[in-house]
Amino acid sequence: MIKISPSLLSVDFTKIGDEVKKIDTSVEMIHLDVMDGHFVPNISFGMPVIKAVRKITDITLDTHLMISNPSKYLDEFVKIGSDIITVHAEAPDDILECLKYIKKSGKKAGIALNPDTPNDVLNKYIGYFDMVLQMTVFPGFGGQSMIMDAVNKIPEIRKMVGDEIDIEVDGGIYIENVCEVVSRGANVIVSGTGIFGQPDTKKAAVDMRKACESCEVKYFG
Ligand code: DX5
Ligand code: ZN
Repeated sequence: MIKISPSLLSVDFTKIGDEVKKIDTSVEMIHLDVMDGHFVPNISFGMPVIKAVRKITDITLDTHLMISNPSKYLDEFVKIGSDIITVHAEAPDDILECLKYIKKSGKKAGIALNPDTPNDVLNKYIGYFDMVLQMTVFPGFGGQSMIMDAVNKIPEIRKMVGDEIDIEVDGGIYIENVCEVVSRGANVIVSGTGIFGQPDTKKAAVDMRKACESCEVKYFG
């Protein structure tokens, strides 16, 4: 099942509430990019923003932690109402313990891979995550171009994790190129510039889903 997860990083921050309410019946989740200026060379937003979004919507909050030492903060993300919490395989920390903690807290756990992180890193975490987030750009900034080498990792990930686990893709995804990832087996589509960065955000979300439904899925086919 295709799930659309617009990234709030590209929203007009003067209108966060209105924009989330406008879109939350048309998509499955909202993607929240937390950056610490250490794991990635940029700082975005943290708990107060997520807490505010939680107050106005019941939609699944898909929290992408681009931070070093995520274990320090997991409890806080659990408390403020994140539903999916994704940690990076490359982050300095005991990532297996992080995944176990997220699951034990009743949340869905995600493991993120940078474009150049080998897929076999996943092997030691199998059974402890609900979602793999394959980055299709190097994390840190919205508006970058999709990296095809990262896209080409998806079929192998799908083989490794089976059909029950979500595979999310994030970075440089637009209506025009979404079939590159869907056809290879990705089913959770993050898009910042392609949705919240568009003049009509609701239409952009609806059109993104239509574009996904039109793709030929080679892996499952
Ligand atoms: C990048 C973030 C993405 C970003 C995607 O580091 O993880 O979620 O918001 O933005 P676009 O869709 O503009 O590439
Ligand atoms: Zn992200």
